[in-house]
Amino acid sequence: MTGKLVTIFGGSGFIGRYLVRHLASRGWRVRVAVRDVERANFLKPAGNLGQIAMFPASITDTASVAAAVHGADAVINLVGILYERGKRRFQTMHVDGAANIAKACAATGVKRLIHMSALGADPNSPSAYARSKDAGEMAVRGAYPTATIFRPSVVFGTEDGFFNLFGWMAQIFPFIPFFTHANPHLPAGGGPKFQPVYVGDVVEAIAQALTGEGHAGKIYELAGPRVYDMRAIMHIVNHETQRQRAVVGLPFPVAQVAAVFLQFLPKPLLTPDQVRLLKIDNVATGRRPGLAVFGITPTTLEVVVPTYLKRFRPLQQTKKLRLQAR
Ligand SMILES: NC(=O)c1ccc[n+]([C@@H]2O[C@H](COP(=O)([O-])OP(=O)(O)OC[C@H]3O[C@@H](n4cnc5c(N)ncnc54)[C@H](OP(=O)(O)O)[C@@H]3O)[C@@H](O)[C@H]2O)c1
Repeated sequence: MTGKLVTIFGGSGFIGRYLVRHLASRGWRVRVAVRDVERANFLKPAGNLGQIAMFPASITDTASVAAAVHGADAVINLVGILYERGKRRFQTMHVDGAANIAKACAATGVKRLIHMSALGADPNSPSAYARSKDAGEMAVRGAYPTATIFRPSVVFGTEDGFFNLFGWMAQIFPFIPFFTHANPHLPAGGGPKFQPVYVGDVVEAIAQALTGEGHAGKIYELAGPRVYDMRAIMHIVNHETQRQRAVVGLPFPVAQVAAVFLQFLPKPLLTPDQVRLLKIDNVATGRRPGLAVFGITPTTLEVVVPTYLKRFRPLQQTKKLRLQAR
């Protein structure tokens, strides 16, 4: 196979699978560095024979990281966690692991490194997640100063963890909650704000940053075309799932108490740290360049989200749709 070689850590995740497909379609040879090679094999058909290869590696293991970046023209780090469990701590994954990758890239002369951070990365954030994202950026910069850093808002797309979670909640719960500091019946009481960005736009920006000029050492904020508060998002979910649930605003102390219990689920619905993160708006600051630099017109969520929230509709609705399609 010819073509430049890119190593992607976290290539089997939500954003990763779109990126692997996108870069393969642009002629890159893709090495997907994953802990479980078998589980990532579903990515292979996204490219030509031999174009996409799995490579066993963990970002916490420096020898495997060095082997995974060896010979690569570019490296992308998409590894991230939303909650801590066992040995998987924010420090280990977002800071030490990111530093392992950056150091290995510097040592082996990799020409371009792209690091995925998150909007809200801040050393002074009340959330440990957001502080670790900031510390990760610093660690990457310290080892590889020309790394390009992306900070997306919530990312949406068919397999996302955000709209799908609320779609599932609309399916199961008699009401859909959102958390707010203010009176939920007032316009200002809609809860924290988000600027969701489409996964297709995110991977296009990354692809351009890999080959284009002027992206070295830059930090980009990736956000969608509109800002929504949590209440507005829940209304979209309600509408698209056709569940007609009550959308109920609850004060943040309720979230804090709920999180104490919900954090112990096998896949936590809410953790105390997420509640702290949720209290802060997740919108672009405007102090950093964004999708416009790449000539990308951000995709609205109203175009994409309905296509996959349909699966949470009541069964009669799905049946009706099938009959209409005949
Ligand atoms: N999705 C969003 O809305 C969003 C918003 C802002 C920022 N981000 C950031 O964007 C990045 C990608 O997000 P995502 O939603 O695609 O995450 P994801 O779906 O959870 O995927 C994470 C990936 O990391 C891999 N991984 C976990 N531990 C690893 C380790 N020790 N070594 C190597 N790989 C490991 C996972 O594979 P295995 O577990 O199979 O090994 C998986 O492929 C993350 O840094 C995230 O913080 C995402």
